[in-house]
Amino acid sequence: MTRTLKLDGIAFGGDYNPEQWPREVWEEDVRLMRRAGVNFITVSVFSWPLLEPEEGRFDFGWLDDVIELLHSNGIAVDLATATATPPAWLIRKFPEILPVTADGTHLEFGSRQAYCFSSPIFREYALRLTRAMAERYGQHPAVRLWHVSNEYGDHVSRCWCAASAEHFRGWLRAKYTSIGALNEAWGTSCWGQHYLDFEAIEPPRDSTGPINSTQRLDFERFSSDAMLELFTAEVAVLREVTPELPVTTNFMSILHDLDYFAFADAEDIVTDDAYPDPADPRAHIDASLNYALMRGAKDGAPWLLLEQSASAVSWRDVNVPKAPGVMRLDSYQALAHGADGVMYFQWRAAKFGPEKFHAAILGHRGEASRTFQECSALGAELKGLGALKGSRVVADVAMLLDWDSKWALAAPDSLPSNRLSWIGQARDWHRATFNLGVTVDLVRAGADWARYKVLMVPNLYLATPALAARLEAFAEAGGTVVVGAFSGVVDQNDHVYDGGAPGPLRPLLGVEVDEVWPLPDGDTGHIMMDGARHGFHTVSEWLDAADAQTVASYCGGELDGRPAVTVRRQGDGAAWYVSGCLADDGLRTLVRRILDESGVPVRTGAGPEIEVVVRRGVESSFTFVLNRSAVAVPVSLPDGADVLVGDSRQVSARGVLVVRHEHEAIVRVAADSAQLQAV
Ligand code: GLA
Ligand code: GLA
Repeated sequence: MTRTLKLDGIAFGGDYNPEQWPREVWEEDVRLMRRAGVNFITVSVFSWPLLEPEEGRFDFGWLDDVIELLHSNGIAVDLATATATPPAWLIRKFPEILPVTADGTHLEFGSRQAYCFSSPIFREYALRLTRAMAERYGQHPAVRLWHVSNEYGDHVSRCWCAASAEHFRGWLRAKYTSIGALNEAWGTSCWGQHYLDFEAIEPPRDSTGPINSTQRLDFERFSSDAMLELFTAEVAVLREVTPELPVTTNFMSILHDLDYFAFADAEDIVTDDAYPDPADPRAHIDASLNYALMRGAKDGAPWLLLEQSASAVSWRDVNVPKAPGVMRLDSYQALAHGADGVMYFQWRAAKFGPEKFHAAILGHRGEASRTFQECSALGAELKGLGALKGSRVVADVAMLLDWDSKWALAAPDSLPSNRLSWIGQARDWHRATFNLGVTVDLVRAGADWARYKVLMVPNLYLATPALAARLEAFAEAGGTVVVGAFSGVVDQNDHVYDGGAPGPLRPLLGVEVDEVWPLPDGDTGHIMMDGARHGFHTVSEWLDAADAQTVASYCGGELDGRPAVTVRRQGDGAAWYVSGCLADDGLRTLVRRILDESGVPVRTGAGPEIEVVVRRGVESSFTFVLNRSAVAVPVSLPDGADVLVGDSRQVSARGVLVVRHEHEAIVRVAADSAQLQAV
């Protein structure tokens, strides 16, 4: 059953915490929400203690009033199940709910999310509240979306308590059936770790030295599954009581420890919380990769930006505000990347608590605050953009994300270099394509890749034979695969493949890795490609390219003259291997060449500060041009184009252009080369 968000126009609004304010403020809130163009509001995220002030006694009166007030003002509701943070009475009655860290520290009540996701007690109480919420509000016409919990894993994504240990043992029993199979998979003959039965196993708590890496990897898998189990238990209650209402849980962009692909399968709509750091000149580039994940999580379907900040956040060491125009640009960036809504944390700036200096739509100065002015202006603009809804981003290039491999590569102190990470490699490769004006989708191992010309695999440390076979089939069908260093090294148990890397990727790539050659911190090496020298960092490899063509070689150092970048062509397809972490200039040159050879047009005029993204609807397409530079950028529009936002001749400094046009028409951008310098 497809459950969609029933809402007129682009979703615009944010988290609202009326429990922090006296009732007379609520009236003013709603009046100002209307002025700001708000049509969608999230409530009750952290309201459990107010909704169930003591065990089994529910008090819905205040929330009834809030929902009614919003509804009578035409504002729809994203209703949280309120299970994100357990009340103090529950913790004091069952202190074993509290999470425990790897070093055995019990985390106290006093912040939020103070529970272990494996706790059967927590689950029982959370499900009871979920059911009560669903029964109370499931039929209310204002309620359009269930918001389950909040940011799973934000504060606690791994727990080492007794309940978690018991849950882990159960998960292992189900996976391995016999202790012998576990001993083999975990390689317990190393360092005398042999287990006689499952009861002897504990989660990987702090130990005397490096921890068994397969135990650790299984604990990563388990922890993600355990949280997913809690989520799906709540979803099951909601589906039972309110089968028609869509369900979401808000993601935290790419950086978190949960397998978001699995979570996306269990929900109806993907939602993201995005907090690009205004102090980081590359933040918008990394945000574009985060958004690629949000649409990739449901095979390109539109998603919602459920939280962003109207200006500064309150949780970094230094919280820099967003300069005028930046919040608007960030909002349009999410829309460009397939979002059908732009929401904020939060509606009204708090007076107390840890987030009292976190920006909000309505700042401490009220209507006069800059954030209110900027947000209201955006809210008015978005009213004209309803036609965007449902359209999907067009991309020729995809990047593979595999959580198993990402987790396996994060094992500390057991790898050639602790500096290698999937996210580091992915961001480098994504930045190279971004800077060439090319949009990238993030896809999972099981997705249909047929619509892409190029599939980037920045790292696949853990590669299964099945995935290797899919990559081969993609190349054989004419696709281009690009694989980064230290891939195909281990199997699903984190055991090194016979013959070494790239293991099952050897037939695809035509190379063999003899030895990994990491660089000491801060060192740079060089490769030679087409007569030009380019830098690399972090890692290189001693490579034999018997069955591939060498495209670039190491230059200087111990690997001088040996292959660095190779390609193996098969039919119309090609498989590239990049054995070192190329620095930006070399990566850009290489990616440019790969895109050219694969027939992916780079977009002249786009660059680090000028992003161009296309969404394709049923009848027309929409091109977004986002100009983060300090000067205006001339554009030329195709015949018949309809300007929805901006000016038909140029995109102003820190400005936005949204154009509707025929599908194959192209919006041309004529930026000055200075604006295309790397950031
Ligand atoms: C020490 C230990 C060995 C091995 C090596 C690795 O020498 O005795 O068991 O771990 O370190 O360098
Ligand atoms: C997260 C949470 C919100 C709020 C914001 C602050 O996104 O979901 O409750 O704490 O962070 O940035």
